[in-house]
Amino acid sequence: MAEPLHPVPRHVAIVMDGNGRWANRRLMPRVVGHKFGVDALVRIIHASAARGIEYLTVFAFSSENWKRPQDEVSGLMNLVMVAVSKYLARMAEDGVRIRIIGDRSHVAEKVRAAWDHAEARTANNRRITVSVAFNYGGRWDVVQACQRAIAEGLRPEQIDEAALSSRMSLTYAPDPDLFIRTGGEVRISNFLLWQTAYSELYFTDCLWPDFDERALDAALEDYARRDRRFGRVKTDIAPSGEVVSLPAGS
Ligand code: FPP
Repeated sequence: MAEPLHPVPRHVAIVMDGNGRWANRRLMPRVVGHKFGVDALVRIIHASAARGIEYLTVFAFSSENWKRPQDEVSGLMNLVMVAVSKYLARMAEDGVRIRIIGDRSHVAEKVRAAWDHAEARTANNRRITVSVAFNYGGRWDVVQACQRAIAEGLRPEQIDEAALSSRMSLTYAPDPDLFIRTGGEVRISNFLLWQTAYSELYFTDCLWPDFDERALDAALEDYARRDRRFGRVKTDIAPSGEVVSLPAGS
């Protein structure tokens, strides 16, 4: 088992970017990059569990990805069924719980059925919870939480952060400690906008299909060196051993 790195983030969120470029560089269709992206995801799920990460949330299909060429969209949908039939049994044995977050209403019945099966089969597992964001958008998540609050009859003064948080996706998980994006772009791209308010951000040029245990450990080592303050002042140890407070931003 891998040596634990300290402190290990409880929750890691990943934008798995770079599949298309990975395939293009090999003169292969983009969907081949996604197929290798699934293999990378499976590797990282097992590696994350081995390192004591409790929650892993990955962006597999965004609300905006429907605008991609039709063959790429249908290739990604097919990959869901292939991935579930190929990898689910091993995940279930390894203590992985799978949850899907996102708007299921426009997803084809057979894709929904595959996700339902994966969720049901792994529902009692607790070693690591893997949330797959599928037809997900961070703005959608905030809007659907507001809609639910209104539908449940909350008055404006009852709508506060706790009221919305409890109606968002991922209510079962703490907010992500670490947000990773592969593929060289430095943006959040409408992923977990609400939940990443205080996440540490980590960007790497590594294309997602190449992201392996070593790349994960590099991100975890970087995270372990971060000084998380959540808006508070920084505390530091003076040479005398005295704990001193430094102004935020120092
Ligand atoms: C971004 O790379 C990646 C995606 C839009 C899809 C991510 C999906 C996977 C890794 C597969 C997981 C799927 C399942 C079924 C769980 P990109 O296509 O934008 O790459 P590019 O930036 O190089 O074009």
